[in-house]
Amino acid sequence: MDKLLISGGNALSGEVRISGSKNSSLPILAGTLLVDGKAKVSNIPHLHDVTTMIELLGQMGVDVVVDDHMVLEVDPRGLKDCTAPYELVKTMRASILVLGPLVARFGEAIVSLPGGCAIGSRPVDLHLKGLEAMGANINVANGYIHATVKGRLKGAHLMLDTVTVTGTENLMMAASLANGRTIIENAAREPEIVDLANFINAMGGNVQGAGSDTLVIEGVERLQSCEHTVIADRIETGTFLVAGAITSGLVKCRNTDPRMLDTTLIKLEEAGANISTGADWIEIDMRNRRPRAVNIRTMPHPGFPTDMQAQFMALNTIAEGTSTITETIFENRFMHVSELARMGADIHVEGNTAVVRGVESLTAAPVMATDLRASASLVIAALVAKGETLVDRIYHIDRGYECIEEKLQSLGAKIHRIPSKRGS
Ligand code: UD1
Repeated sequence: MDKLLISGGNALSGEVRISGSKNSSLPILAGTLLVDGKAKVSNIPHLHDVTTMIELLGQMGVDVVVDDHMVLEVDPRGLKDCTAPYELVKTMRASILVLGPLVARFGEAIVSLPGGCAIGSRPVDLHLKGLEAMGANINVANGYIHATVKGRLKGAHLMLDTVTVTGTENLMMAASLANGRTIIENAAREPEIVDLANFINAMGGNVQGAGSDTLVIEGVERLQSCEHTVIADRIETGTFLVAGAITSGLVKCRNTDPRMLDTTLIKLEEAGANISTGADWIEIDMRNRRPRAVNIRTMPHPGFPTDMQAQFMALNTIAEGTSTITETIFENRFMHVSELARMGADIHVEGNTAVVRGVESLTAAPVMATDLRASASLVIAALVAKGETLVDRIYHIDRGYECIEEKLQSLGAKIHRIPSKRGS
C-alpha cells in the first residue's frame, strides 16, 4: 500500500486549482443510466471512486467513453445486466446510487447491500422505503437488494425520517421517470443535490425546489441527451483552506464557489483567518498567526459539514485555546482522534463530543489513515508537525482527493508518495 511522507514546518503559499466534486460526480454518473441517449459530463475528478463507478457502469454494459480531460460520454442504451455486485459495492458505498435509476429506467435492479463502514452502520432503509412507496417491489436476500417494477414507478408523497444525501438523490432520480408527481419532504439540501437536479433538468426532467427541504418532481416518460459540467468540490476546497490555516499560510483556491462554503468560511474567520472571495475563488491569509480554537457541531447542509469535521479537529489541535467538536451525523467518526494523539494532540472524547486542548506543536509519528476525511486530517496535521510523518493506508485519500501530493507540493509542502513494493 502506498504511503505519504510529509516533513512539517513549511507555511503553504500559492494557488491551487480545485477539482470537480466527487459527491456530485458519483450521483450524476449513476444518473446517466436514466438517459435515453448520451450524457456528456465534464469536470469529473480523476479519483478511485469515479473509476469504480465507471467500472460498475461498464460491467452493466453501459457504453462509457472517457477522454484525456476526464470528459465522460455515457450511453446506457445497450445495458445488459442490472447488477451492482458485492465486489464493487464493498469498495464504494455510493454504488447504491444506481438503485433508483436502474429500477426507474429498466424496471429492475440487483444491488448488493453496502453494509457498515469505518464511520458507522449507515443503513439504506430510507432509499428502500421511498422506492416501495413509488410502487417498486423490494426483496432483500443473500445480501442483495432486488427491486422490480412492472411498467413505470408512480409518483408518491415521501417524508424522509432522517436527512439523507444519497437517499434524496436515489429517490429524486427514480421520481424523474415515474408516472406523476413526487414530493420529497425533509430532503437533503446539499449543493450536490442542486447539481444533480440541474443535470436531470438538462435531460428534460422537471425537478423543482432543489436546495430547499422540499423537492417536487414531475416525472417524464423519457430523458434525452444532454451536456453537464459538475460543480467544484467544496470539501476539497475546505481541506486546502484548512491546510493554509494550520501552516499560517496564504492559499488561494481557484475554480471553486464560495457560496457553497458559508459555514466553513465563517469558522475559519472565527479561527482568525482573513478570507477574501471572488465569484470563483477563495483566498485564506493566516500569515504570522496561530489559529484560535473553534467549536464545531456537524449538521446537514447548510450546517457545518461532517466531511470537514476531521480537518477542523486537526486545526484545533494546535490552536490557541480549548474547543469542543460534536459529531451528529455519523456515530463513529472520530477514528482520527487516536492517530492525532500519536502526534501529540490533546483530545478527550466523550460520546459524540471531542474536547480538544490546543498544544504549542505536534510531533511527527507514523500514523494510519482510516477513512477518507480522517486521512485528510492526518495530512494536514503532518504539515505542521515537527519531523517526518509517514501516513499509511492512503488509498483512502486517493478515493477523494485528486493529485493531493502534487497540489500540496505546488503550495510548498514537503510531501512525497512512497509507492508500495510489489506484493506488499
Ligand atoms: C453522503 C456523502 C458523505 C457525507 C454524508 C453526510 C456522498 C457520496 N457521500 O453520504 O460524504 O459524509 O452524505 O453529509 O454524497 N441514514 C439512515 N437511513 C438511510 C440513509 C441514511 O438512517 O436510509 C442515516 C445515516 O446512517 C447517517 C445519516 O442518515 O447517520 C446521514 O447519512 P447520509 O446523508 O445518507 O450519508 P450518505 O448519503 O451515505
